[in-house]
Amino acid sequence: MPSPSSHTELPDSSSLRHILAVAHSPLAEPGVARTLATELGLDWLGVVAPKQVRDWGLLLFMDEHGLALQQTGKGAPGPVRAEFVSGKMGYRREHGGGAGQLVARAVGMQKTRAPLQVLDATAGLGQDAFVLASLGCQMTLFERNPIIHALLADGLYRASLNEACAPIVARMTLHSGNSLDWMNQAGPEAVDVVYLDPMFPHRDKSALVKKEMQVFRQVVGDDDDASQLLEDALGCARYRVVVKRPRKAPAIAGPEPAARVEGKSSRYDIYPIRALPT
Ligand SMILES: C[S@@+](CC[C@H](N)C(=O)[O-])C[C@H]1O[C@@H](n2cnc3c(N)ncnc32)[C@H](O)[C@@H]1O
Repeated sequence: MPSPSSHTELPDSSSLRHILAVAHSPLAEPGVARTLATELGLDWLGVVAPKQVRDWGLLLFMDEHGLALQQTGKGAPGPVRAEFVSGKMGYRREHGGGAGQLVARAVGMQKTRAPLQVLDATAGLGQDAFVLASLGCQMTLFERNPIIHALLADGLYRASLNEACAPIVARMTLHSGNSLDWMNQAGPEAVDVVYLDPMFPHRDKSALVKKEMQVFRQVVGDDDDASQLLEDALGCARYRVVVKRPRKAPAIAGPEPAARVEGKSSRYDIYPIRALPT
C-alpha cells in the first residue's frame, strides 16, 4: 500500500529549492506536511494563505483535500494534485469506456483475457496507470521526480481510503526512483507490457493546454532520455511497449512503431514483441 511518507530528498543542485516550500492550511493536520518538508529537504512555512505568499513562487500545500502543488500570489491558477476519487478521474471511473478506451486498446486489453502485468515507467500523476488498474491490470509505477512522487503517493493514499477506489489502488505499486535502473536489472520478459509517457518538450508556451499543467512542466522539466527508456523497455517487456505522444509529435528516436492508436490530442505508438495470449 503506498503511504504518504517514504520520499527521497530533492537534489542539492535543484533550482526548485529556491522557489518551492512546504506549507499547510489551518484545517490540515501539520504533521504529514512537516515530515514531507524534512524528507524532501525543503523549507517549511507552517500555516499560510497561498495567495498572500510573496517570497516563494510555489508551494507543496496540504489542505483538507490533500497535497497539491500550488502557485502563490493573486490570480494564481488552481492546485495540481493526483486525484482519483473525484473530479475528472472519478467521473472517468464511473462513466469511462472500459477496455475500449484508447490507452487500454494500446496496451492490448481487448486482445487478451489474461490479467496483464504492466510497468508504468513514467508514472507522473498516475492517471493512465489508474485507468489500466481499474480495468484489471497489475501496475508497477516508477516516478523519479520527488515532488511528483509525493503528490502521487498522497493521491493513492487518499484513494485507498475510498471504498470504490481501494481495490483499484491495491493493484498499483508505486516506487520512487528512476525506472531505467529497474529495467536495466530486470532482464528480458520481466513484465508483460511497458508503458511510457515521457514529457514531450513543448518549446511554444501557447501550445500548453492548461495553466495548471505549466507548473507540472516547471517542476519536471523535459525527459531528454526518452529514447533510452524505449530501448530499455524493449529489453524487458514480454509482449509490447506502448509510448504515449502528443498526436502530431514525432515518434521517440529509435525503432519505428508497428502500429498506432490515435485520439484527439494523444497518440499511442505500439512496439510489439510477440502476440498477446488470447
Ligand atoms: C508526462 S508525465 C506522465 C503522466 C502520466 N502518464 C499520467 O497519466 O499522469 C511524465 C513523468 O514521467 C517521469 N519520468 C520520466 N522519466 C522517468 C524515469 N526514467 N523514471 C521514472 N520517472 C520518469 C517524469 O518525472 C514525469 O513525472
